Formats: sequence, C-alpha cells, structure tokens
Amino acid sequence: MKTVSINEWHMAQESELLFWDKKRYEPARLIEAIRDKYVLFTEIKKIYPQILTEPPDIGRALEIGIGPLCLGVVSLLEPAEKWEITGIDPLPRMALPKLPGYLEAFFSELYKKNMTYIQTPAEEFDNPVNAFNLVICDNVLEHTYNPQKIINNIYNLLLPGGFLVLRENTLSHLSKWRKKIFSNKYHDKAHPTFFTFQELINIIKDNQYDIKYQQKDKYETIKRLCGKSRRIIIFCRKQ
Ligand SMILES: C[S@@+](CC[C@H](N)C(=O)[O-])C[C@H]1O[C@@H](n2cnc3c(N)ncnc32)[C@H](O)[C@@H]1O
Repeated sequence: MKTVSINEWHMAQESELLFWDKKRYEPARLIEAIRDKYVLFTEIKKIYPQILTEPPDIGRALEIGIGPLCLGVVSLLEPAEKWEITGIDPLPRMALPKLPGYLEAFFSELYKKNMTYIQTPAEEFDNPVNAFNLVICDNVLEHTYNPQKIINNIYNLLLPGGFLVLRENTLSHLSKWRKKIFSNKYHDKAHPTFFTFQELINIIKDNQYDIKYQQKDKYETIKRLCGKSRRIIIFCRKQ
C-alpha cells in the first residue's frame, strides 16, 4: 500500500487544521459530525453487538484520529463508568467556542466522560501492547502517511479477543490510477494516501485479525469512474 513522505503529510495536516478550526464555529456541521458518530454506533449495535458488550471489569477503548474536537464513537460507549476512553490525533486539541443554547446541553452530555487525549500520529503511538478491548478508526487512514503501520500497531495494542472497527473510504482500481496519473491536476491535498478495498483487506490479513464483518456501500458506476470513493465498514477481532 502506498505511503507518503512526511512533508506531504504535513501539508495535508495544515489543511486539516484549517478545516477543523472553521468547522467548530458552524453548528450545522457540528450536528452533522455527531449524527455521523451515532450512525456508526447504531450500525455496530445492530450488526455486531458483541463489540459493545459491557465489560465485566473496566474496558479500555481507543479512537485513532479522533479529530481535535474529540467527537468520537468512543464517547458513546455505555455504561460510561465502565469504559476508559482515549483519543489520539496529531492535531492539538481544540476547545469548542460558546455554543448556542440548544447545543450546549447536548455537547456537555457528550463531553461528560473523561477522555485522555494524546497528540500523536498513530504510526508513532507508543503504548503498552495488549492494552485495549476496542479500537475505532473512522475516516482516518487516507489522511495518514503509513496506513499499513497503523493497522499493524493496532494489532499490538489490542487485547486478544479485542475488536477493531474500521470505517474508511476506498478507491476502485480505475480511480486509483486516475488519481495517480492526474495527481498534479487533481491534487487532493487533504487525502495524501489512497487504497483499494482489496489493499486494505490484504494488510488486515497480514496480521492475525479475524474479519467478522465487511460491508461495501452501494455506488453508482459513473460516479465511481469519476473518482468518487466508496465507504466501507470492517469489524475485525484479534485472535
Ligand atoms: C477526516 S478526519 C476524521 C476525524 C474523526 N475520526 C471523524 O470521523 O470525525 C481525519 C483525522 O485524521 C487525523 N490524522 C491524520 N493523520 C493521522 C495519523 N497519522 N494518525 C492519526 N490520525 C491522523 C487528522 O488529524 C484528522 O483529525
């Protein structure tokens, strides 16, 4: 799978920083971001509820590339007191500005859980092995510089029997080549890395993950030919 230079990645992160800085002042986009998290949470609950089972003791959950506003699926885990949650992202954590009243209550509910935020790229996340029951990676890998290293790292971070939830965008072979050939003309600064569904599956299989579920969104061929990416969901278990 393609990796990119650190320089290219830093350029992508500059635009990512601007994106989040702007987004936090736009209530409609904040609501959309939260809705998106509830959608994934609900899908996990519906398709593979074992992933969200209440831990007998204390469960530890990690969200990779959670974003500087810490709007992650891990904040939705229940019961709150049974989960220790950690979010990592290379961007510095950002505070939300004063929100309109109708959003204030909602966000304070979401933020009431204590989250440990660690500012680091996932490729360099240095943590004890076998530490987490659950790792979430939602719309992150195409923003990173070495997705393969991240998937390998996650394997080490998970406890045996722990789950990885991936929701990512993948390209078709054609879109991938198109993007390569026209990389200067259509430079997609925010997404330095790209991969096909099969390439992602291959790096998962390089580790001893047991793939429990995989879903590809339906798509329209014409849009895909024009380079539209396909959102996929994969649930894996460390054996
Ligand atoms: C599109 S945002 C997704 C944020 C969040 N997961 C969500 O769905 O709202 C991509 C995030 O990946 C982060 N990111 C970029 N490179 C990364 C890396 N090497 N390791 C971990 N996160 C990274 C970015 O800083 C950004 O917050």
